[in-house]
Amino acid sequence: NWNMENFISDQVELIKRQVGNKKVLLALSGGVDSSVVAALLIKAVGNQLTCIHVNHGLLRKGEPEQVVEVFQKQMKANLVYIDASERFLSKLEGVSDPEKKRKIIGAEFIRVFEEEARKLNGIEFLAQGTIYPDIIESGTKTSKAVKAHHNVGGLPDDLKFELVEPLKMLFKDEVRACGVELGLPDSMVYRQPFPGPGLGVRCLGAITKDRLEAVRESDAILREEFSKAGLEGKVWQYFTVVPNFKSVGVRNNSRSFEYPVIIRAVNTIDAMTATVEPLEFALLQKITARIVNEVSGVNRVLYDLTPKPVATIEWE
Ligand code: XMP
Repeated sequence: NWNMENFISDQVELIKRQVGNKKVLLALSGGVDSSVVAALLIKAVGNQLTCIHVNHGLLRKGEPEQVVEVFQKQMKANLVYIDASERFLSKLEGVSDPEKKRKIIGAEFIRVFEEEARKLNGIEFLAQGTIYPDIIESGTKTSKAVKAHHNVGGLPDDLKFELVEPLKMLFKDEVRACGVELGLPDSMVYRQPFPGPGLGVRCLGAITKDRLEAVRESDAILREEFSKAGLEGKVWQYFTVVPNFKSVGVRNNSRSFEYPVIIRAVNTIDAMTATVEPLEFALLQKITARIVNEVSGVNRVLYDLTPKPVATIEWE
């Protein structure tokens, strides 16, 4: 008679036994896995846990705020919030190759985390949101699909911790059930997958502040309209992309020369192949109207109709 309540009370005991009265560190991205680990550790060892949330400036609208609200304000966790937006942007300046962008974001993430970890004294454990599919699939995925910076591998030798991985025998749906049981909000537990490099691979080519804001704002509008249309949780992944070219338009009787926004909405089982969600035309029109009216620097909206293969889900 295995159930989530038992799983949680067993894990709380195991964590207490492993950690004793020592301190634990966690890189809390706000994704499903790290959030559930955080909630579990707060329940088990409370203020022996310190969470570090690195805001790389490539998160979706409202995400860093939600991490602070849920973990610091509601769950009373020790949360170190680092706004490293400017630092990431300057490292990424002028870099247009997608894989280079990924490497820079991953490496910089570890560096920021390492710097913060060094400021804390007497930490002996590192908690990680490793789940069962991470273990069975490691080594078989392409480097692009591997969640390179979700787990903080790659820390230098003098900064080695003993790992605490309470979710490593769970599948994703069980992780979500665990999160619900621990009182995390649905918007955190059931959120769509989001790549580690975040909006960085949706702001195509060399990232600029204006286009990054256009991706963030258009994504927020898309999510809001999907939610109103009852599509939240029904479409596997949906987001916007802003390319690095402009097109001509007309606004208030004068010529405009602005960026397009591309809408992507796909369904998949395993992310290896994907089909396009056949969105209602009226919904697309509504989203288009909002984006061209509310997102500055955007004068055109496109809908990507390409399945995977031949396209990938992300544009970079
Ligand atoms: P593609 O674009 O390869 O994406 O069809 C498949 C799934 O993987 C996600 N993705 C990533 N996730 N780091 C991640 O953590 C990455 O660098 C990365 N690239 C793609 C993508 O969002 C989709 O769900």
